[in-house]
Amino acid sequence: MARAAFLFAVVAIVILARWTGATAQDETTSPEQLMSHGFDCFSCHAINKEVVGPAWITIAEHYHHDPSKVPYLAAKIRDGSVGDFGKIPMPAHQDMNNKLATYLANYILSLNGALEGPPRKYQYKNSNGEEVTVDFPVFENYQGRQVVTRDIFGGFEKYDSYCFRCHGFDAVGGEYAPDLRKSLDNGMSKHDFFVASMEGRSSKGMPGWAGFFDADELNQVYEYVEARALDLLPPGRPPSQSD
Ligand code: HEC
Ligand code: HEC
Repeated sequence: MARAAFLFAVVAIVILARWTGATAQDETTSPEQLMSHGFDCFSCHAINKEVVGPAWITIAEHYHHDPSKVPYLAAKIRDGSVGDFGKIPMPAHQDMNNKLATYLANYILSLNGALEGPPRKYQYKNSNGEEVTVDFPVFENYQGRQVVTRDIFGGFEKYDSYCFRCHGFDAVGGEYAPDLRKSLDNGMSKHDFFVASMEGRSSKGMPGWAGFFDADELNQVYEYVEARALDLLPPGRPPSQSD
């Protein structure tokens, strides 16, 4: 337990170090910059797809781009929200002043476009010779060799830096935390994986990674763990372009 508390402190310090590097927080900064560098919005949201929370264009359409909703949304951004789109809570952002929250709410309401279509499918044979289908590429050819994609390798590196301490090397489970391969095998969806990872479960010793990873970075970790769960990757460092 003492060890878990220590690890938690280390994670907290790393996160703090990232936050102090944040860009200036005012309206001369573009909304995208603010949401990715100053705040943690792109950990849980994307413009045209659901992540932990709804896509920005889904929110804009839900409120019919109605400017009179700006104060309501600005208050939600600052105070947090639950129940407007589902059961998953959005954390509060009390460190954001009302002017900035209004600026971001205006920007979100102004967005429109199409939601991302269904993902492509990729088929591979796993180590037991079974055909498995995934919605992301795992391997590619590089100079005549089969290597893993940059995203999978990035996921391996991030897992191996931040998750292995509790969840075990090579994602096999640890003393303090469950085997994430089993979680996925037992039916945990990608969305649930993102919710647990970004929001954390602080009472159980699982830190939240929102503000530390953006959605694309956590997606790499997800792809790596899913490829391990499907027996597409053996334990250890996967072959990469830089070998
Ligand atoms: C840890 C995940 C998480 C983070 C970080 C996050 N959100 Fe959310 N957000 C959600 C969830 C989940 C919902 C849906 C809440 C609900 O159903 O009421 C949501 C809803 C919203 C809504 C719609 C609120 C409503 O009641 O209609 C807005 C606007 C929004 N988020 C903006 C932001 C902004 C701006 C940031 C960054 C400052 C941010 N979010 C950061 C998870 C998050
Ligand atoms: C300080 C220890 C610690 C670290 C570091 C950690 N976790 Fe966890 N994690 C836990 C614990 C403990 C649980 C179990 C929580 C519970 O019992 O509900 C957990 C649960 C989870 C779950 C839910 C699993 C399930 O079956 O419900 C996911 C997903 C997860 N962690 C992802 C991650 C990812 C991704 C990382 C690295 C970015 C990470 N964790 C880093 C301690 C940790």
